[in-house]
Amino acid sequence: MTIEAVINVDLDGPKINRHVYGHFAEHLGRCVYGGFYVGEDSSVPNEGGIRLDVVEALRELDIPNLRWPGGCFADEYHWRDGIGPRPGRPTMVNTHWGGVEENNHFGTHEFMALCELLGAEPYISGNVGSGTVREMSEWVDYLTRDGDSPMARLRKANGREQPWKVRFWGLGNEAWGCGGNMTAVQYAAEALRYGTYCRGNDLYKIAAGANAFDFAWTETLMKQVGHLGCRRVTSTAYHALSVHYYTITGPSWDEKGSATAFDTGEYYRTMVSAARVEELLAGHAAVMDCYDPNRNVGLVLDEWGTWFDVEPGTNPGFLHQQNTLRDALVASVHFDVFHRYADRLVMANIAQTVNVLQAMILTDPDSHAMVLTPTYHVFRMNRGHQDATSLRVDLRGPLPSRPVGDATLTTVSMSASRRDGRLLVSLSNLDADSPADVEIDLRGGTVHELGALILTAAAPGDHNTPRSPSTVAPRPYDGVSVAGGRLRAHLPPHSFVTVSGTL
Ligand code: AHR
Repeated sequence: MTIEAVINVDLDGPKINRHVYGHFAEHLGRCVYGGFYVGEDSSVPNEGGIRLDVVEALRELDIPNLRWPGGCFADEYHWRDGIGPRPGRPTMVNTHWGGVEENNHFGTHEFMALCELLGAEPYISGNVGSGTVREMSEWVDYLTRDGDSPMARLRKANGREQPWKVRFWGLGNEAWGCGGNMTAVQYAAEALRYGTYCRGNDLYKIAAGANAFDFAWTETLMKQVGHLGCRRVTSTAYHALSVHYYTITGPSWDEKGSATAFDTGEYYRTMVSAARVEELLAGHAAVMDCYDPNRNVGLVLDEWGTWFDVEPGTNPGFLHQQNTLRDALVASVHFDVFHRYADRLVMANIAQTVNVLQAMILTDPDSHAMVLTPTYHVFRMNRGHQDATSLRVDLRGPLPSRPVGDATLTTVSMSASRRDGRLLVSLSNLDADSPADVEIDLRGGTVHELGALILTAAAPGDHNTPRSPSTVAPRPYDGVSVAGGRLRAHLPPHSFVTVSGTL
């Protein structure tokens, strides 16, 4: 089937904030310990305990920001336990994630060193649930105070003379659940109080937002913005609201389904769940528009991705799952939607970067071998969209679609952007069995130096392992051509294709 599309290359669309390609690292399972951090005494090459192979691989993704230390862990984390000489740091129990001992060896200084190695901006989630306003305000001061203060002196005594640059600051996490079980009204008041006393220079404060489709939560926080006046709220309390949305396939939390062993029905249900991120962003953006039509308040999807049953034999609290071509297509669909909502969505963070949920990298606990997942490759292939101008794409019907339960899944997904005279088009064919052909009218534009990459495999469940690390990896693709101002692409079943060129 041939699908017609028009890319409005003449329009000056909104800029795709590079921060929608953000990441998330929680003290959960083997994300930090064994993933990012192995300790200075490890045989794995490291700098200050941070794994260098992981850093090197992630640098290829131009990671714009990294969120830390949680997640649910953030609202139990007391930052002072994670500074000073490591042997003297107190331990705690990570009650949310497996009940394991947390030795606090990876703390503020280690996280900031990791961000410096990655070239990523830090996004720190402060503790509202079990912390205090003073504790959070002092953490900001410890990190960012230029000049003299008790916290700046403490930081210097711990070996860091210069303040760090920290912009992104989360006021708690999931306040409706693990972050304190608050009502929206309770949390709105807390967000104002905590936000008021976090006084770092240039801090961009992010209020803990809704659980998926809970638009009422967003409405409560936005009413506060409307009531106090946008200027006042954003100058004192918060600049953005977050929302969390996971792609769930199974019928319930107890049966989310296997990450690798799934049938075609489950595959399509995953795609329907992923595509609903459009409804999610549209709904929250519509509520925000009522109170903030000039779009001063940002929307931050700071947790997204697939959530399947853990790999057999692994700790259920460690959320360790394999990652297949299906996950890659979930990611590509999300990015298409992010590009379409570029005028409201200012940041997004996939959960989580290493070894947890929809990871970019999996490391073997015994051999320490590192594997790049199919999702990693989508981030890499889409790098050129970061800070690019989002181009409006009109897919012209009849579009290929299929019924999935009560829903209808459109099986071709697409987005495009332009940066520094270069066009990047991302195309996904979600159909498990049938190819699709796309013919794109460039509205008078012509593409030169055409190049294309494809990410696909024999089956949607294919994945990479230390023995077979490139089963799902991008390859140069010749199924794309340009003639007479039209770009043509043949998309094999379950494939992701990027096309680039000068425009
Ligand atoms: O990413 C795993 C968990 O999912 C986070 O800790 C929490 O915020 C969410 O419920």
